[in-house]
Amino acid sequence: MKENYKETIEKLKKYKQNEIVNIIAKKYTEEENCKIVEQLKNINLEQVIELYKNAENIPSIDENKIEHIQYTDLNSLSNEQFKEYKQIGIDVIKNNKYAVITMAGGQGTRLGHKGPKGTFKIDTINGEKYLFQIIVESLQKANKKYDVTIPWYIMTSEDNNDQTVEFLEKNNYFGYKKEKVKFFKQGKVPMIKTDGNIVIDQNKLIKEASDGNGSIYKSLKDAELLKEMKSQGIEWIFVGGVDNILLKIVDPILTGLTIKENNLISSKSVVKKNAKEKVGVFCKLNGVPKVIEYTELPEKMAEDIDENGELLYGEVNILSHLFNIKALEKLAEQKLPYHTAFKKSNYLNEFGEFIEVLEPNAYKFESYIFDGFSFFDDMSILRVKREDEFAPIKNATGSDSPETAVKLYNDYIERNKN
Ligand code: UTP
Repeated sequence: MKENYKETIEKLKKYKQNEIVNIIAKKYTEEENCKIVEQLKNINLEQVIELYKNAENIPSIDENKIEHIQYTDLNSLSNEQFKEYKQIGIDVIKNNKYAVITMAGGQGTRLGHKGPKGTFKIDTINGEKYLFQIIVESLQKANKKYDVTIPWYIMTSEDNNDQTVEFLEKNNYFGYKKEKVKFFKQGKVPMIKTDGNIVIDQNKLIKEASDGNGSIYKSLKDAELLKEMKSQGIEWIFVGGVDNILLKIVDPILTGLTIKENNLISSKSVVKKNAKEKVGVFCKLNGVPKVIEYTELPEKMAEDIDENGELLYGEVNILSHLFNIKALEKLAEQKLPYHTAFKKSNYLNEFGEFIEVLEPNAYKFESYIFDGFSFFDDMSILRVKREDEFAPIKNATGSDSPETAVKLYNDYIERNKN
């Protein structure tokens, strides 16, 4: 232990982590020292410092390299195409080659619900429902239709895993077969303050925050779930967020289209409301698929229209993705770029005093699932109707709130009653 302790201090000094070195020397007991030494064994300090150094360097995008991406409009499919894609997809599902992953590792800061987002309850015309319950209902409906039990994987984070498992246990998985549900935790990266010191939290430990939903690829592999899927013969994996209450998680058409177009990945899109809507859209950058954030798309390009008078960059990413197992295997081996968010984080200062902050003071690093798309030459995009498949719950009030989402959900139920 003593050796490890000495090594740890040397390592911290090398990376100029004087704040923590000082607290350890003055304030930590031997037991606390052991804990931090243990924690540091699994932290790549060099990588964190590198991320810190580049935190303010937002890579610029060469607008000459941005191109429109081809998409298929669900509503423009011919009858034959529709039937053909549907049949291909149904065969996949019926032959137990389909699985679903729900990404539920987010913090849900904007919604402000205490507890994992999936445990948030809404009041619909079909009664009160938790977000996880809505997902189970979609799965069960598909299971009944195709006479299968689709494996369901849930990505959690270090912070919300126990609460998520407990919640689903307590609610008996809303009737889903428990042995078909698997949880896996996403990765984490230390937060670092603008002065270059990593954040030490109230528990006298390094504050490690979830590293974004792009963590999914490596986390699946680390949890040995890719192996498991493969051994079960699963070929196509749908991945979606936890907070879109109209998300279609089992859709044979998307699967059929992807297979027919010979792609390993695909996504659904909805039409951007107007040039100024603050959403990420699909495009091609340097010849490969990408989701470009509204902040990255030059204003003029955001307004460009095609020959039909539609926005050229108008296919909105709604976090509704499909991957072939081979694509997930490939992505598990890639390094995705980290994006930097500037957040508030209380911390212990070098005297061991707890400092509460009112303004953002620290960097949080996140990778995004859609950055994985750029590792492929192409992907299928299926444009669907916003009112049929997109009712996100992001904010506590206003746009994309429980109120707006429930309204969309209720309207959908009413429209599809018969
Ligand atoms: P959002 O980007 O909306 O983030 O996540 P969020 O954490 O839910 O909410 P805010 O931004 O803090 O308010 C989109 C989807 O990706 C998942 C979320 O759970 C959600 O389903 N996600 C996000 C993760 O699984 N892990 C992450 O680290 C981030």
